[in-house]
Amino acid sequence: MSYKKFNLNLNSIISEFNKTVTVDSDKSISIRSFLIGSIGNNISVVKNALNSEDVFSTINCLKKLGVKIRKIAKKDYAIHGKSLGSLYLKKNEKLNFGNSGTLARLLVGILSTTPNIDVRLIGDHSLNKRSMRKLIELMHKFGATFLPNKKYNFPLRLISSNMPTGIKYVAGSSAQLKSSVIFAGLNSYGNTFIIKKKESRDHTENMLLQNKQSIKISKKKIKVIGKKYLNKINVTVPGDPSSAAFFSALTLLKSRSSLLIKNVGLNPTRIGFYKLLKKHGAKIYFKNMRKKNAEYVGNILVKSSKLKPIKATSDYYTNTTDEYPILFIIAALTKGTSTFKGIAELSNKESNRITEMQNILKQVGVNSYYKNNQLKIFGKGKISGERYKINVKNLGDHRICMSSFVLAVLIGAKTEIKNFETVFTSSPSFLKIMKLLGVKFEIKK
Ligand code: S3P
Repeated sequence: MSYKKFNLNLNSIISEFNKTVTVDSDKSISIRSFLIGSIGNNISVVKNALNSEDVFSTINCLKKLGVKIRKIAKKDYAIHGKSLGSLYLKKNEKLNFGNSGTLARLLVGILSTTPNIDVRLIGDHSLNKRSMRKLIELMHKFGATFLPNKKYNFPLRLISSNMPTGIKYVAGSSAQLKSSVIFAGLNSYGNTFIIKKKESRDHTENMLLQNKQSIKISKKKIKVIGKKYLNKINVTVPGDPSSAAFFSALTLLKSRSSLLIKNVGLNPTRIGFYKLLKKHGAKIYFKNMRKKNAEYVGNILVKSSKLKPIKATSDYYTNTTDEYPILFIIAALTKGTSTFKGIAELSNKESNRITEMQNILKQVGVNSYYKNNQLKIFGKGKISGERYKINVKNLGDHRICMSSFVLAVLIGAKTEIKNFETVFTSSPSFLKIMKLLGVKFEIKK
């Protein structure tokens, strides 16, 4: 499914609210469950999967690779696993990853060590701009070839390795790269060792724990044991803490409001945003925490709060990765100087999230300064939106669209966000929930 393009116009301030909502299912977990289900044996079942564009791209790619995937309920799927090393498609065929960096990097990990793959890899205009250099260099170590040589962004041709052997890799902040190495290691001869220099999101490892013969995990190390029988998995996908972050930010900054967000994934590697804000005065409470399939789930209660300027050290980066754009909005609307360290990788997301967010803040008179891997935002506290206009160009970046939306409805600035359909890559219910909270918006097709 591909949504029609549309722009979104906003021109009023949201009123106070007290509501309970459920947000969209987790994107990272959904994509991984389809991928692992496809390379396992037997039928894997994924419940409460995210029905978003990035997940549809995942399903389409896997179907092209010969996997049978059946929708058994509105958000539940059965995946008929083809087993390790058995994905296949004809020479010269194309795989289109759409907007999804996660799908691209993880599936390239799988295909690099799947025999007889010779495929053309493409993405949308945002993905085609993103550097795949680190991924390519890692997959070279498994013996895969990418053509043209020394070109590091899509479109690319991938020729897989027929005799891959395990590698040793020191993992940094990227969960996508770590996962791509885990996936490549699963179909390699011998073992693959990953040393965790940093602790990035660990959903791939958690899901593979249903196949203990393939993976051993300790605090500092992951050992992937290649060429083992991989059986089906069962996954129930929780709500996405990254989607919940936008509604949480809106609640924190709106006076006399509260929001209960139900069934959100609270994996410790994903909740840096909430922890950071709690440290700065946010009334955020995790309720009814429980563990399901190695993942923590719970409710998040958020209440309007008086925040202090944010000081985010670089150790927050891996657990807060996707939440920086909305954090920058919070910083802009909190009086004082906020500082975000160790964020250079944000320049290679769906857009350059540092410069693009600086552009948006500038449009409402908020100054910021980026140097040496550190962004300072000189927060104004209250902003009178009538004085400003916000224009967000087509960047193909869902999180920039949603962050600008939150800014616009908090200050009441006349706003146009181009190509808002890009939000459907991760959060198809975003507008529905905003409407429930009382936001008025206009869709321009
Ligand atoms: C993701 C990892 C992160 C994150 C992305 C999803 C994942 O990317 O930004 O939205 O599912 O593994 P990096 O690995 O590039 O940090």
